[in-house]
Amino acid sequence: MRRRFDIAAGLVLLAVLGVGGWLYWSAQAGDGLRQGLVSSVSVGGPFTLQDTAGETVTEADFRGRHMLIYFGYTFCPDVCPTELGNISVALNMLEPEVAEQVTPMFITIDPERDTPDILAEYVPLFHENLVGLTGTREQIDQVAQQYRIFFRRVEDPDYTYYLMDHSSFVYLMDESGELVSMFAYGTEPESLAETIGASVRGEQPGV
Ligand code: NI
Repeated sequence: MRRRFDIAAGLVLLAVLGVGGWLYWSAQAGDGLRQGLVSSVSVGGPFTLQDTAGETVTEADFRGRHMLIYFGYTFCPDVCPTELGNISVALNMLEPEVAEQVTPMFITIDPERDTPDILAEYVPLFHENLVGLTGTREQIDQVAQQYRIFFRRVEDPDYTYYLMDHSSFVYLMDESGELVSMFAYGTEPESLAETIGASVRGEQPGV
């Protein structure tokens, strides 16, 4: 009985400390709270992947340009084609001098099926500038982790092929590889284009 009381008291103390700490931290964070939450989670970083010609590419090859990155897989029945369609519409809305500063890329999370040849056939269906990237399982796992991408292979007995559950965000990275904005699935192309334009022109895009 005594022991149980001690455990309960300990839990209450932990809860009080936790809430107190959070309140203190919130007060310190003040107006910068939201900004802090966005920047404290690091997104992006160095990667080594393969393009549709089978050549090795790294994030350094795109330094000085904006990257618009989407993760998915070519067998995706609905989500990926919808989002790549939105990206394509957004890219076509950009002024030419903005568009030439942006590299849109599709990084597969299913490198077992998405070979350079498969990607080479797939990406032009959406946009002529879309860069398709694949890699080894390790390379893909690493870049997916850096971009906080969740994915999971799903076996469905109704199909002879497997599907992949995956998160669906569009990442806009600036010319130094820093995250400008993360767009949720289904963001309107107008909104994408507006943020891309503002970032390329050096205006505050408003995350
Ligand atoms: Ni998909």
